[in-house]
Amino acid sequence: MTTSSHQHPRSALDAESVRQAYRRWARIYDTVFGGISAFGRRRAVEAVNNLPGKNVLEVGVGTGLALPAYRADKRITGIDLSEDMLERARERVVREELCNVDALEVMDAESTRFPDNSFDTAVAMFVASVVPNPARLLAELKRVVKPGGHILFVNHFLAPGGARLMVERAMARASRSLGWHPDFAMESLLPPRDLERCTIQPVPPAGLFTLVTLSNDKPA
Ligand SMILES: C[S@@+](CC[C@H](N)C(=O)[O-])C[C@H]1O[C@@H](n2cnc3c(N)ncnc32)[C@H](O)[C@@H]1O
Repeated sequence: MTTSSHQHPRSALDAESVRQAYRRWARIYDTVFGGISAFGRRRAVEAVNNLPGKNVLEVGVGTGLALPAYRADKRITGIDLSEDMLERARERVVREELCNVDALEVMDAESTRFPDNSFDTAVAMFVASVVPNPARLLAELKRVVKPGGHILFVNHFLAPGGARLMVERAMARASRSLGWHPDFAMESLLPPRDLERCTIQPVPPAGLFTLVTLSNDKPA
């Protein structure tokens, strides 16, 4: 996607470049990114734990850093495009003896194989700015989550202005090798109607990440 608008990421990441980027990241992901993102991940999983319903879909589950934090009565299905990242998640499930992880599968979050209304909750942590088409991701999560269920995103979103905006614009040129879009605006993910009704909570460090919670208001 190439556009001059600051509301849209400037350089495209297709599924193959995501796989390639995370093949490189898999081995060092937890060390490099695990720390800075820990608070946002913890907030998102706490929010999921406090929501009704037990069937949870985690899209872009990656190395499974969030898996140990889900309450024991939640049943987790994790999907990811990257087999290399999933391999780490599978090792974690065995190592930490996690009994509530039902499946970890290679699958595209924009086009899953799950029937409609399969889950009570779907959560995407640091994924929305990575997927090739965020609008398709949202549509797919709405499809697989039950009416009245919840969809959560925790992500870095483009700063509204100031020095951070300039840095993010400059970093965006490296999107393909980074494996995510530093210049990802919330409007790229949520249409105006969802933006109006979702809950938006900044999370530390320094409001760098944001937790977005959306109820699935499709007809029953
Ligand atoms: C920044 S990592 C986040 C991993 C994990 N959620 C976490 O909190 O550490 C982004 C993950 O999203 C995955 N991903 C990107 N696009 C995807 C898609 N269309 N479907 C499924 N997974 C995707 C990548 O392979 C990668 O594992």
